[in-house]
Amino acid sequence: MEGRKVIDTLNIQTELIMPAHTNPIGNLMGGHLLSWMDVCAGISAIKHCGAISVTASLDNVSFNLPIKIGDIVILRSFVTRAFNTSMEVICEVFKQNIQTQEEIKSHEAFFTFVGLDFNHKPVKLRQVIAETEREKELYIDAMPRREMRLIKAGKLKSKDALHLKEFLDEN
Ligand SMILES: CC(C)(COP(=O)(O)OP(=O)(O)OC[C@H]1O[C@@H](n2cnc3c(N)ncnc32)[C@H](O)[C@@H]1OP(=O)(O)O)[C@@H](O)C(=O)NCCC(=O)NCCS
Repeated sequence: MEGRKVIDTLNIQTELIMPAHTNPIGNLMGGHLLSWMDVCAGISAIKHCGAISVTASLDNVSFNLPIKIGDIVILRSFVTRAFNTSMEVICEVFKQNIQTQEEIKSHEAFFTFVGLDFNHKPVKLRQVIAETEREKELYIDAMPRREMRLIKAGKLKSKDALHLKEFLDEN
């Protein structure tokens, strides 16, 4: 199966923060943001595998920068690496200054999606072709990240996480 370029999985989504999206102090609710990120990343996964994709996991997200009513947020996602039936997708969120159009990165998360066939069974995925320096770096580091999340999910023993061990020794 021929690989697919990272750029072909890119998905960009823009949202305007309205009162219904906010908490009692006028900040965007974390749950709304996570929902947008899940859909944005899910579309990247679908672009990669050309099939139904379900969220298997989501790595840590911190809510350090408040997003307010009237702000514009831009979500940007792409597949970093495909494994066997699962793929890692990065979703980055940028808060845009409406006067200057300047963008500040506010959030980032790594999702894992699994491609499913029409019987809802996991399907073998094509490989990802990383082209830029950043894409290549994300591709390489996707393996230790995968091992870390599989350890947390109880699906891998830490003694078998060889890429993670190498990553931790180097960093
Ligand atoms: C995700 C799901 C398909 C995995 O099915 P499963 O029977 O556990 O299948 P497997 O153990 O063969 O795992 C399939 C792939 O998912 C990966 N995976 C499973 N759980 C994972 C987790 N917690 N984090 C990251 N990857 C995970 C496996 O590593 C495997 O990837 P690989 O083939 O590339 O090695 C299944 O748990 C499911 O359908 N979950 C519900 C999905 C859903 O509805 N999501 C919406 C949010 S509620």
